Amino acid sequence: MRQATSSPVSASPADSPRPWSQWRGHALVVGPGGIGQALLDALPRRAPHLRLWSAGRGRGELRVDLEDPESLATFGERVARELAPLRLVICAAGVLHGEGLQPEKRLSQVNAEGLRRSFAVNAWGPLLLAQAVESALPRDEPVHLASLSARVGSIGDNRLGGWYGYRAAKAAQNQLLRTLALEWRRRLPLACVTLLHPGTTATALSQPFQGSVPPGKLFTAERAAGHLLDVLETQTPERSGAFLAWDGQPIPW
Ligand SMILES: NC(=O)c1ccc[n+]([C@@H]2O[C@H](COP(=O)([O-])OP(=O)(O)OC[C@H]3O[C@@H](n4cnc5c(N)ncnc54)[C@H](OP(=O)(O)O)[C@@H]3O)[C@@H](O)[C@H]2O)c1
Repeated sequence: MRQATSSPVSASPADSPRPWSQWRGHALVVGPGGIGQALLDALPRRAPHLRLWSAGRGRGELRVDLEDPESLATFGERVARELAPLRLVICAAGVLHGEGLQPEKRLSQVNAEGLRRSFAVNAWGPLLLAQAVESALPRDEPVHLASLSARVGSIGDNRLGGWYGYRAAKAAQNQLLRTLALEWRRRLPLACVTLLHPGTTATALSQPFQGSVPPGKLFTAERAAGHLLDVLETQTPERSGAFLAWDGQPIPW
C-alpha cells in the first residue's frame, strides 16, 4: 500500500482547487503496466488524502487476475476488508498481443481461444472487477470507476477493419460498463462510470505497432495519464456512462 503524501495540491489550469484534493478513503489502480503505473505516479498529487493501492497479476501490492474467478473472489474479500471507502477505481488492464495472441489482420487468423482471452481481459474483466469491489464503494460520497477502453472499440468509427478480437472486446466492455452506469444511477447515485481512450501511448501493448504512428502522435505514459486524470476530474455522476477520448471529446459508440 502506498500512502499518498500530503504535499500541497497543485492548482488546476483555472487555478481552482483540484476536485479530489479533499477526498478521503482509498484509490485503486488495476493493471500497473505502462499507463497504469503512470496513473499511480500522478495520483498522489491530485488526491493527496487517498490511500493508493495497485493491483495486478505480478506487479502491485494486491494480487488479481481478471481472467481467474477465484483470484477475483479473494481480491474482492480483501478490498471489502481493507479498502472501504473506495472512492476511485481505475482499470488500466488490457491485452492486445502476447503468447499465442496476435491482433488479427484477416478472418483466417481469428480463433476461438484468442477471442476468449481478449474478451476475458478487455471486455468482461473490468465488469467483474466492478463486481468484486462494489461492496467497498460508499453510498453517501462521490465515487469514480473508470476503465481504459480504446477508440478502435468504437463500432461507428471503425473504418479500417482488422483487430477483430480487441475491437470487439473493447466494444463489449463499453456496453457492459454503460449498462453498469445505468444500474448504479439507481443504486449508487453518486457513482460515475467512465470509459477512457488514452490515445496511442508508448507502452509494451502498443510497442509492435508504434512504427505506423505519425511523429508527435505517440504519447508518453506520463502524458497520457495526465490527460486521463484531467478528463476524469471533470466527470460527475450526471455524466456517468460516457466514452471519452484523452482530450475529453466523446467517442461514438
Ligand atoms: N498503449 C496504447 O496505445 C493504448 C491505446 C488505447 C487503449 N489502451 C488501453 O489502455 C490500457 C493500458 O494499456 P497499456 O498501454 O498501459 O498496456 P500495458 O503496459 O501492456 O499494461 C497492461 C496491463 O494490463 C495487465 N493485465 C493484462 N492481463 C491481465 C489480467 N488477466 N489480469 C490483471 N491484469 C492484467 C498487465 O499485467 P501483466 O504485467 O501481468 O501482464 C499490465 O499491467 C489497456 O486497457 C489498453 O487496451 C492502450
